[in-house]
Amino acid sequence: MEKKGLNLTLKIWRQDNAQAEGKFVSYEAKNISPDCSFLEMLDILNEQLVDKVEKPICFDHDCREGICGMCSLYINGCPHGNDSGITTCQLHMRRFKDGDTITIEPWRAKAFPVIKDLVVDRTAFDKIIQAGGYVSVNTGGIPDANAIAIRKENADLAMDAAACIGCGACVAACKNASAMLFVSAKVSQLALLPQGQIEATERVQNMVAKMDELGFGNCTNTGACEAECPKEIKLTNIARMNREYLAANLL
Ligand code: SF4
Ligand code: FES
Repeated sequence: MEKKGLNLTLKIWRQDNAQAEGKFVSYEAKNISPDCSFLEMLDILNEQLVDKVEKPICFDHDCREGICGMCSLYINGCPHGNDSGITTCQLHMRRFKDGDTITIEPWRAKAFPVIKDLVVDRTAFDKIIQAGGYVSVNTGGIPDANAIAIRKENADLAMDAAACIGCGACVAACKNASAMLFVSAKVSQLALLPQGQIEATERVQNMVAKMDELGFGNCTNTGACEAECPKEIKLTNIARMNREYLAANLL
């Protein structure tokens, strides 16, 4: 049986650039299949706008399967929508009801200026990674990896931390626009492994310094970042980063 299409009102943030004043503009989306993804729904709206010779809505996306971290929409007051453990591209229209009004905004944080409409500049995250989110030692080949003994618990925790896709939802969710969850995931994934030990001291110091320099706020333990993270990165990573930072500064 064919599923009934959804008729929706979309209140979408439109802004020409970081300096321009933005505003919400309302659009009617008609007969949207509940099987569409949220981004496909925006594609359909954009096709209709282009047909009417109106400017399409700019939004970020790439893999559309929850891997790349590019999609970044604030939907009805929640980063990646009101669902847990998924990115915007994994959100489906079946989560909405016919007649709903959906408010769509960009990430809002000083360190993520709007480029256009719903697209923000997340270069700040790249700069934090450049400050220390790497190892510059020979990690060896596949046989060597098997020869380096790593506690199972540490390997699992490192893998969990490495699941962070750098989407920035943690910053957008935080009232302080803190990047602690992101930075702590990137510090943890290396701090938990032997290959990460050689540069551990400089890494945590440099990444935290860069995070502060770029205008991210402080953590006040509200837990909003963990609640909204599509990869369910845990707050315990922040505790680990704080321990690493303290230890580095005592040396
Ligand atoms: S910690 Fe979670 S919310 Fe923050 S950037 Fe990584 S995946 Fe996105
Ligand atoms: S488009 Fe890649 S995670 Fe959503």
